[in-house]
Amino acid sequence: MAYSLTVNGETRLIDMPGDTPLLWVLRDGLHLTGTKYGCGVAACGACSVHVDGQAVRSCQTLLEDAANAEVTTIEGLGTPENLHAIQAAWLEHQVAQCGYCQSGQIMQAAALLAETPQPTDAEIDEAMGGNLCRCGTYPRIRAAVHSAAATLKG
Ligand code: FES
Ligand code: FES
Repeated sequence: MAYSLTVNGETRLIDMPGDTPLLWVLRDGLHLTGTKYGCGVAACGACSVHVDGQAVRSCQTLLEDAANAEVTTIEGLGTPENLHAIQAAWLEHQVAQCGYCQSGQIMQAAALLAETPQPTDAEIDEAMGGNLCRCGTYPRIRAAVHSAAATLKG
């Protein structure tokens, strides 16, 4: 049975078992490899994407549960010519170190700002607390989220 998903604005038919984690649908099925595998058990946040505007852990989201949903991955957040405010702030603050966790961090931060446009430090820490970074980029993540919030405020 094929499942329909809208991924980064494009409707895709996915011919994979319904219990396939969304992470593997994206990476293996659609070759969108910006979304990373970290732990596989919803404990690190590296695989974060948006499903119907909410940040979810794609390693623990089944294809059958995401069917007909709107999925956004890091590849669909902005373009090199037109970066999302979060991506521009990440560049401005040179947030990434090894980079492995960063697409998940950015997707989580984008979902935070969509819901809470001017977050406090405490709100940032709470929203981002499940996204681990072995390089310890947390202070720069926080600064970049504030910077993107200021940009979006205009
Ligand atoms: S790979 Fe999904 S939360 Fe770690
Ligand atoms: S930048 Fe290396 S794990 Fe976060």
